[in-house]
Amino acid sequence: MLRTAVLVSGGGTNLQAILDAKAAGKIPHAEIALVIASNGRAYALERAAKAGVPGIVVHKEKGEAIEAYGERLLAVLRENRIGLCVLAGFLTILPENVIRAYDHRILNIHPSLIPSFCGKGFYGLKVHEAALERGVKVTGATVHFVNEIPDGGGIIAQKAVAVLPGDTPEILQRRVMEEAEWVLLPAAVEETARKIENPEL
Ligand code: GAR
Repeated sequence: MLRTAVLVSGGGTNLQAILDAKAAGKIPHAEIALVIASNGRAYALERAAKAGVPGIVVHKEKGEAIEAYGERLLAVLRENRIGLCVLAGFLTILPENVIRAYDHRILNIHPSLIPSFCGKGFYGLKVHEAALERGVKVTGATVHFVNEIPDGGGIIAQKAVAVLPGDTPEILQRRVMEEAEWVLLPAAVEETARKIENPEL
């Protein structure tokens, strides 16, 4: 089983979806071995503890060089023999040394249909605010590999979600999570872990 780390910054509902899928036997090729939070207040850490998964906080220190932060992150990943990383609401830009070391082994979930409403500055509720402001009738979520371009890596899976009259950013965010994110991300973790473990397939 591929040792997998989930990186989080906040509530961790996507982490919960992964933990639930794992408990239900839907992710046989990945072991959820570690949760890394960018801050100690992330509720996701409590979800990890409840599931018996070790949690650790690694955050970029004020004034610390991005590559030095990346080296610290890499040391944690290597110490824990991590083979796959999942960004599940992780709101820190990953340093390039981490991205290079884990080429095609880092997944991210983004709450829109990339290439709409993505890239620098588009995260969390801001994405849904922008979608409502533009007046789109369909939005959704995307799971993609992480490369050096924010939200620019290869797309693994996408799912469309309707925008409905009366939607607020919060209502739309919840619908996108329920109908798309919590379905797509656990499935993409399994699919990617399976391919890494069985490269001949
Ligand atoms: C999710 O909607 C995720 O797609 C988004 O942050 C939220 C985290 O929620 N990520 C981004 O916007 C990344 N650009 P969660 O902590 O409950 O999983």
